[in-house]
Amino acid sequence: MPPPQVEQAPLDCARVKALLKTSYVGQNLVYYARIGSTNDIARDLAQARAAEGTLVIADEQTAGRGRLGRQWFSPPNSSLLMSLILYPPLAPSQAQRLTMICSLAIVNAIQEIAQLQAQIKWPNDLLLAGKKTGGILTELGLHGQSLAYTIVGIGLNVNVRAEQMPGFLRDIATSIAQVRHRPIAREPLLCAILEHVERRYDRLRQGETPAEEWAAHLATLGKWVRVSDPRETLEGWAEGVDEDGALFLRLADGSRRRLLAGDVTLMG
Ligand code: BTN
Repeated sequence: MPPPQVEQAPLDCARVKALLKTSYVGQNLVYYARIGSTNDIARDLAQARAAEGTLVIADEQTAGRGRLGRQWFSPPNSSLLMSLILYPPLAPSQAQRLTMICSLAIVNAIQEIAQLQAQIKWPNDLLLAGKKTGGILTELGLHGQSLAYTIVGIGLNVNVRAEQMPGFLRDIATSIAQVRHRPIAREPLLCAILEHVERRYDRLRQGETPAEEWAAHLATLGKWVRVSDPRETLEGWAEGVDEDGALFLRLADGSRRRLLAGDVTLMG
């Protein structure tokens, strides 16, 4: 079968501005055709107290990064590569709640615009058909013990073709267009994500916790998993998550561990 023809034109910012129905998330839109990392630009803007909801978005990153120092790969004009500046009334230990509301907003938007059911893989991945389609890298700016700002960096594979992915990624990563067998305009998808983020962020600021809904979308719960971080690898039942998104892992010896981060592999 021939590869699907996909739309890989630059982002139409005028269309985004015309479509976007938020009051502050994404209203200050900072666009780059090509940049190192949107998270770095957003950090500089946040340090200069840019407006809450400022969004830095790029069609290409030359130094895009993921968690644990990994590189974030994305062909030009194929994806959503963006960083959102927020000043949440949260303690640093609660900052994962931002990743939680943003991943839920992406699930909502993919369902609405692409009619696909995405899942969340703890702690920060978006999956379609069991493969990684997106990831979130939330970085914090601290002022003493409190949160000065947060940068929520989102990478979402929208119109990436399988043959554009490096070989090592093809079995584990996908894009919305690959699963849908046709491309999708990025602008309405972006607007839907930002609208869901704003609604969810307003509720978070009013004290609502997204944990229960987030847990319901996690692909990893109730399964035997292996969780690795640079320090250790553990295996156990993924029993549940708490309000701040930490994972409770029941080990074979009956003890329970609370994990804040790591790479999860589903076993058997
Ligand atoms: C991960 O899965 O490890 C998180 C990936 C986050 C990638 C996005 S792309 C936009 C923003 N800028 C970056 O350099 N990284 C994030």
